Amino acid sequence: MLKKIRVGQLQPGMYIKEFCGSWMEHPFWRTSFVLDDPKDIATIQASSIKELWIDTDKGCDVLAGEVAVAESDSEAEVDAALARAADSGRELEQVSIHEELSRAVKICAKSKRAVTSMFAEARMGKAVDTAVARKLVEEISDSVSRNAGAMLSLARLKSADDYTYMHSVAVCALMLALARQLGLDEQQTRSVGLAGLMHDLGKARMPMAVLNKPGKLTPEEFAIMKGHPAEGHKMLLAVADSVDASTLDVCLHHHEKVDGSGYPDGLKGDQISLYAQMGAVCDVYDAITSNRPYKAGWDPAESIRKMAEWAEGHFDPIVFQAFVKSLGIYPIGSLVRLESGKLAVVMEQSKDSLLKPRVKVFYSTKSRARLAPKIIDLAAAHCKDSITGREDPAEWNFPDLTELWSGLPGPNYW
Ligand SMILES: [Fe+2]
Ligand SMILES: [Fe+2]
Repeated sequence: MLKKIRVGQLQPGMYIKEFCGSWMEHPFWRTSFVLDDPKDIATIQASSIKELWIDTDKGCDVLAGEVAVAESDSEAEVDAALARAADSGRELEQVSIHEELSRAVKICAKSKRAVTSMFAEARMGKAVDTAVARKLVEEISDSVSRNAGAMLSLARLKSADDYTYMHSVAVCALMLALARQLGLDEQQTRSVGLAGLMHDLGKARMPMAVLNKPGKLTPEEFAIMKGHPAEGHKMLLAVADSVDASTLDVCLHHHEKVDGSGYPDGLKGDQISLYAQMGAVCDVYDAITSNRPYKAGWDPAESIRKMAEWAEGHFDPIVFQAFVKSLGIYPIGSLVRLESGKLAVVMEQSKDSLLKPRVKVFYSTKSRARLAPKIIDLAAAHCKDSITGREDPAEWNFPDLTELWSGLPGPNYW
């Protein structure tokens, strides 16, 4: 039986099923193992992980009298939290996703080149050229306002090698879409977009061997990397007349958490600005959905569910809810199972409900065979089918669903 416990309840002999937090937050290669080394308990308790799942069929249970959350209760809580965001209240997209995708591919290519040279210059100690960054933010912002889904889903498709640069582009696009959802004005929207693009600039000053390590960081290396927000902030302070306070703030505080367990300042709740809260949500989503040398990215819908499960203590609930509205409960590219037993990939959100996106059906779980792909609008009045839940593409042996939803042949998209 799966139970969610707090790290303070850990006992030797427990079987850890999964940590409630992204894989960047703990130093273990595997997330499922029997806890037989007391040093591991100390390591977990010293990390920023606060809760985890144990399997009591495979290891010890919690001590008598201690409380734990049952899997069904946690699932119900996540469902309820996501259902609250389901009425999308989205604006109609100005152009179709297919029209925007071809433009977004070019913007991604251009952005990657620009961000790569921005990091190279920062590494050489040159002052940040904010004019170039501003121009990029403008182009990304225009794309997001024509059709947000195109940039948001494309920027997720980075290869492990592109990570540092394309992560900046992806967080920029996510911040712009979230700013629109929260109703920020045009100037604030551009500022948080710029903040997204610049938030990890401090990584340019981190030792290359640590930054590009093709594996998990040791606690010592992680401690070094924790210096990147302050380094980036210092670089932006040097050009403070051309960046807003909000950009500086996101750069310094995008790793803070509402329960005070984040870094560098351990800020809590209201001490973290709206902009930094936005940065935290966008940063985590892009990090966990991206492929890394040691870990394939999680499916977008799975990532949204996991973030909803961690949300308490980690993210501001209002910001997280707006984030879900901007991206979807089943973001573009997610694998879903329909009531009819068919599997489909999400192609586009609908205007009224995030539970009824437009999907492409391509597999029958009944006959366990591929079907001729067919697009279905689950929000259409005549449509009788509906989503029953997300599915894990890896479990179905579907290595890459990108071509199905985007029509773009991979693996290099730009
Ligand atoms: Fe960061
Ligand atoms: Fe980041």
